[in-house]
Amino acid sequence: MDPINLYEYEAIAQAKLTPMAYDYYASGAHDEITLRENHAAYDRIPLRYRVLRDISRRTTATTVLGHQLSMPVIVAPTAFHKLAHPDGEVATVRAAGQAGTLMILSTLSTTSIEDVMAAATGPVWFQLYVYKDRGATKALVERAQAAGCSALVLTVDAQIWGRRERDVRNRFQLPAGLSVKNLTPSGKEEFPQDARGSGLAAYVASLFDQTLAWKDVAWLCSLTELPVLLKGVVHPDDARQAADYGAAGVIVSNHGGRQLDTAPATIDVLPEIVEAVDGRVAVLIDGGIRRGTDVVKALAYGAKAVAVGRPVLWGLAADGQRGVERVLDLLRFEVDLAMGLCGCATVGEITRDLMD
Ligand code: FNR
Ligand code: LAC
Repeated sequence: MDPINLYEYEAIAQAKLTPMAYDYYASGAHDEITLRENHAAYDRIPLRYRVLRDISRRTTATTVLGHQLSMPVIVAPTAFHKLAHPDGEVATVRAAGQAGTLMILSTLSTTSIEDVMAAATGPVWFQLYVYKDRGATKALVERAQAAGCSALVLTVDAQIWGRRERDVRNRFQLPAGLSVKNLTPSGKEEFPQDARGSGLAAYVASLFDQTLAWKDVAWLCSLTELPVLLKGVVHPDDARQAADYGAAGVIVSNHGGRQLDTAPATIDVLPEIVEAVDGRVAVLIDGGIRRGTDVVKALAYGAKAVAVGRPVLWGLAADGQRGVERVLDLLRFEVDLAMGLCGCATVGEITRDLMD
């Protein structure tokens, strides 16, 4: 029988993946407290559903930064999709398009931006890591724009790497044949082979720019016409700054619990951030979203959309493009169900009163 929820996809993926790949995808930093809390926090929030509203004609469709999507759920940027399945990011982007939603492509993909965009049938945003080599960074921005990506997502919580102890133990490396494809032109596609712990942590430590600061948001905005979103914000003052520096949006995220352990669960800080930006920028959120009810709670607190990271990887590992499509279809089904049971026929009807 086909899996009927996202947890069943994880179990199938775990059985198929090497322990090194599974651990890389699944793990969080240190004691994995934030990793667990991201979802546990949703479980603690009750939905105060409403009744006797005509919900016979429902739609999960919505618009995010000008893109019409089939649902308020998008694909978060995650690295190295070919670790999950030989079709890698091409399978993921096709599935996102098929599901009527948007994919954020990671800088650290195992397929080039150009090859991903050639397979894309829906919108794609490009997630940017800033390298010390600003020329190489600028080249990524230019390529993303030229290839047709419609926004840039600057990740702001990962100049230095959280300590994922499973990766340290496993001495995480990419298998032969896989590399950081987008960085081939600048000669930064391989992890250091002599790393004593995680090869990815060593790669980041040697190449990512730790000087990254607010002025660089202005620098990035000056390089491109594309809207820039900042991903990794959990503090309302940072969200306000993002708006001041010209960002078009923020993604409330703690990197899926992979960076600072004991960072707050994202859903717990969402309301303050929505209040702080006061409609000046779009607010999205990720971390721990596994059920349609999680999506409804995030929207009720004022998020425009949510992003999912690991569940997409589980679908990809289980069954390639079809697996990702099924994961996204399951989420759309659950969002529709949760909306209906909450008395909401449209995404616009998901309002704060559900939380009080
Ligand atoms: C990530 N994440 C991430 N973020 C980013 O900005 N660039 C990246 O390359 C990656 N890579 C990555 C790999 C893996 C294996 C994971 C699990 C996560 C973080 C990601 O975008 C997102 O913030 C979280 O995954 C959201 O949490 P959930 O949905 O996985 O619980
Ligand atoms: C991670 C990346 C690549 O969390 O952002 O592993």
